[in-house]
Amino acid sequence: LYRPPVRPRPFRRHPQARAQRRDQAAGDRRAGHDAGDDVRAADLHRAARAAQAARRARPGRGVLAVSALRSGDFSSPGDDNSPEDAEGRRAGPRRAGDGLEDEVTWQDVECGSYAADLVLWSQLAREAAGPVLELGAGCGRVALRLAAEGGEVTALDHSAALVAELERRAGARGLELETVVAGAGDFRLDRKFAAIIAPMQLLHLLGGAPGRARMLVRARAHLAPGGALAAALLAERPGPPAPGAPPPLPDVAERDGWVYSSLPLEVRPLAGALEVRRLRQVVAPSGELSEEVDAVRLDPLDPDRFEAEAAAVGLRARERLAVAATDDHVGSVVCVLEVA
Ligand SMILES: C[S@@+](CC[C@H](N)C(=O)[O-])C[C@H]1O[C@@H](n2cnc3c(N)ncnc32)[C@H](O)[C@@H]1O
Repeated sequence: LYRPPVRPRPFRRHPQARAQRRDQAAGDRRAGHDAGDDVRAADLHRAARAAQAARRARPGRGVLAVSALRSGDFSSPGDDNSPEDAEGRRAGPRRAGDGLEDEVTWQDVECGSYAADLVLWSQLAREAAGPVLELGAGCGRVALRLAAEGGEVTALDHSAALVAELERRAGARGLELETVVAGAGDFRLDRKFAAIIAPMQLLHLLGGAPGRARMLVRARAHLAPGGALAAALLAERPGPPAPGAPPPLPDVAERDGWVYSSLPLEVRPLAGALEVRRLRQVVAPSGELSEEVDAVRLDPLDPDRFEAEAAAVGLRARERLAVAATDDHVGSVVCVLEVA
């Protein structure tokens, strides 16, 4: 990943934030904080809320459902995974710059608002009527929901930090589930599952065909008779916004006085894959800004190709399910495979 060094410096209002502030009601303007002035975190909070409100109000899909190797979900109050609900909050970073390393918060910020696929995973888990393994479970957007619905869930992710947070959230909600820190291509568990699921972009993050083949072999080895592997793929190639479309808005969240903002910058071809770049910014309560460009590589993949790869390891295509695109997120196709 391309990770330029962290350069803390006094925060000057981001042009995007400035535009959002322009859109705010006149009463929101505050004397002494005109464009270009240094601002405090408190000022950003207002811009952050305005950005979320604008996103909800504005049509056009400017934001990709992309995040990956390091994490994200912006949970609004009341959401199952809300980091700010009564279940106890994680402590914010102590020093400016630390926030950029906060995998959990970035997964919350960048993925947590995505909900279009949840009903589908619930339905698949219900139909499976047996233990479910989620690959790339992150901090539990899907796994916690399935466990709350009474499912017997195992959540696997290669990030120990995300798994620890998932456990913390499960404990806070009195949910029981099993967790595993392991790669999707090399896990070995001593039991089998009625369903193995891979939501969001996991399939695009495995390092191309060889990584996917390893995952498929491990998944097949862990499927109970009659079990199914259900894995999501992006339904369309992410790209730049249509000409004339408004620029994307940042995903934003506020936690313990720290403000996190993640702005999609571009999607560009890179060595046979796509690189999605985001500007991540963290403003400390003191007003100090840290920022970096986060780059995630997405392997190109379509359902035909994935089903052919699955067939090569003895998994046959059962059905394809669609998750519709939303204003904020591209749609996806969920390929459901069963042991041939
Ligand atoms: C886009 S997030 C999705 C998180 C969660 N499934 C959800 O839907 O909210 C992708 C997750 O896959 C994990 N991941 C990426 N590559 C992985 C691999 N090779 N093995 C296990 N986990 C992986 C990341 O750590 C991240 O938590």
